[in-house]
Amino acid sequence: MKYQFINDVIALSSVEGNFYIELINSNVVRFTRDLSHASRVLSLAREAPRYSLKEGDGFLDIIGETFSLRVFENFYVDFMNKDGQNLLTETSYEEDECFPRGDNTLAAKEGHIVSGGEDYAFIHSYSLREGMHFYGLGDHTGPLDRLGYEKINWNTDYPQAHEDDVKSLYKSFPFCLISSKNGYFGIYLDNTFKSVFNFGVDERTFYFGATAGTDDHYFIYGPSPKDVVSRFTSFAGRLPLPPRWSLGNQQSRWSYPSKKSVEDVVAGYEKADIPLSAVNIDIDYMVGYRVFTVDETRFPDLSDFSSSLKKKGIRLIAILDPGLKVDPDYDVYASFVDNHLVAKENGKTYVNAVWPGDSVYPSFNDPKAREKWGEYCARVLSKGVSGLWCDMNEPASFKGPLPLDVDFAGESHAEIHNLYGYYMAMATYEGMRKFSSERPFVITRACFAGVEKYSVIWTGDNQSNWSSLQMSLPQMLNLGVSGMPFLGTDIGGFGGDCPAELMCRWIEFGAFSPFMRNHSCAAARFQEPYRYDDKTKAIYRKWVYFRYRLVPYLYDLFYEHSQNGLPALRPLYLEYPDDPSVSNLNDEFMLGESLLVAPVLSSGTLVRSVYLPKGVFYPFFGGEGKKGESYYAEKCPLDECLIYAKAGAIIPLYPSMTKNLDLEPEELVLKAFPGEGKYLHYQDNGTDFAYEKGEYNLYSIINHDGVVSVSLLHKGYRGYKRIRVVSPNGETFISLP
Ligand code: GLC
Repeated sequence: MKYQFINDVIALSSVEGNFYIELINSNVVRFTRDLSHASRVLSLAREAPRYSLKEGDGFLDIIGETFSLRVFENFYVDFMNKDGQNLLTETSYEEDECFPRGDNTLAAKEGHIVSGGEDYAFIHSYSLREGMHFYGLGDHTGPLDRLGYEKINWNTDYPQAHEDDVKSLYKSFPFCLISSKNGYFGIYLDNTFKSVFNFGVDERTFYFGATAGTDDHYFIYGPSPKDVVSRFTSFAGRLPLPPRWSLGNQQSRWSYPSKKSVEDVVAGYEKADIPLSAVNIDIDYMVGYRVFTVDETRFPDLSDFSSSLKKKGIRLIAILDPGLKVDPDYDVYASFVDNHLVAKENGKTYVNAVWPGDSVYPSFNDPKAREKWGEYCARVLSKGVSGLWCDMNEPASFKGPLPLDVDFAGESHAEIHNLYGYYMAMATYEGMRKFSSERPFVITRACFAGVEKYSVIWTGDNQSNWSSLQMSLPQMLNLGVSGMPFLGTDIGGFGGDCPAELMCRWIEFGAFSPFMRNHSCAAARFQEPYRYDDKTKAIYRKWVYFRYRLVPYLYDLFYEHSQNGLPALRPLYLEYPDDPSVSNLNDEFMLGESLLVAPVLSSGTLVRSVYLPKGVFYPFFGGEGKKGESYYAEKCPLDECLIYAKAGAIIPLYPSMTKNLDLEPEELVLKAFPGEGKYLHYQDNGTDFAYEKGEYNLYSIINHDGVVSVSLLHKGYRGYKRIRVVSPNGETFISLP
């Protein structure tokens, strides 16, 4: 087998052509057919790890520090763990093939959802082994374990119900986390064209590939799932610390079309005594849906209005749509078109339609377009808006899909499509970073892997039905292991009318959702909590208040994410990777490593089964410890959500009745559970970037069976006045120097 070195890369050649293998570090290896292909989203820190090569008859062994590879003359690759046990065996590599084979055209014409039937530029297939489970791949619907499903990465505005068999939704994360009996590992396909991941739908194989572009992919070794996620996010990027207020409760609707309607929302919340941290204003704040305009007749003196809301701890978040209305008198349109910063077709400005009617599409992949967009963001920011919500950025198009050859600054739509939302989020983030001293808060609907560097996400237009609620949990868990920690679904559901019982169960789950926003469609019933009956209102109030208590714990989880890339909301296998009972557990999750939550996700359910993994777990609000590796039938009345703390857990809480996150409480409560445990608590001003200059505190907390001690590992910020410890031993106060 012929090979040579090009710098640190092993370059193989055979009748099959050229194939390059690059060990990025001792746990990550890249395979590419074109060494000059540059990643759109990864920032690789190459470490030149040690490895040795051994030539065999028709193969080359590459033996690294933690894994080894056997590469055959046809470039098929076997991937082994450090004990030489198999993780993955490649069974075929095909170029320019239609997958799956067979003609589905007729079925597709009749409107059935058909598998692929696409021409793929390349497809890698691997044998599917007993005990394999597949996770990640972003917000695709379906169960936690994707075994038996095929998903297509092609960002799609999908207003119909997001059932489990839907192939494409708004986002593309061509990254999957695979569990095998010999350890966990990840695969990232570094290709932005339409791609497929087929997790054993047919022939007992698992395959992935893309319709065009370079075959460039990575294997990321574990052996634990946390190792894989951490390694992937170290390259794809991590969310910078969010503003503290963004962890509060948000209310939205398509639309609150006037200042008066926003005032009514605030008054409704105040009257119902439910904390509120932000109101999202949808497309009707603009003049004829022209992005970066504000209709002054409906929103007079927006700056004064936003500052009066801010005094109450309530922020405004404004929606931005990418489509610029074709209107020569509209300066944003004119300046993007005049500067050639929009998509073109055959050399002419490309026009499709979105909310404003005929519209043009900024080429966000062009840094000049991003810069201009950022400058326009300043217009909305100058009105006191604290967050920007990027929508319709698949991009959506009402006059049929954009042709694949539409030209975005010299690059084809086929290549840019899946990146469109990613670049729009980047442009918006950079605009906020430049024109505001506060931490940016950007929300996006469409995106690509790595978008967490710039934005949080929500899962788009779900429905006010039980299946949407059920699905949102595995959806969020799979997004989390794909690198996205700050996320949520429209609480109460977007399309349709949310009944009271569903609203109660949704807020009980929504209270743990990092992005906590109730949002609904113009055609749906008014869904603000204060519009419901007293019982529903009381349940909503209870869980929003509980959420505000949890904010320091959530904030710690974001600090943790910034250090190791792990999500706040975790599938149980992330914490208990060897427990076969949790490999496809769709209705429980961990919040960090200490809390296990089992929400009720179906109607009429007042008792549910809960699986507790290894260890002892304590009901959060009091009660005897329960031994793990067992199932329990637990009562769960309408106003309850089951929460358990791991033995030895320490949970930092704000005092009860906290409601304004701009006013940092003077007291921190540490709730300590029986057992031994340790915990790191992070604190800063929650608003700007002073923490980058050391203005933060880091507390080390130790729990010896309810006896808690606290020490400061880093002191750079004013501390709490009091730390109150609540444990089975009673209440004590800790004062720090
Ligand atoms: C899209 C968004 C939705 C928004 C609506 C109007 O459907 O997904 O959240 O309310 O557009 O802007």
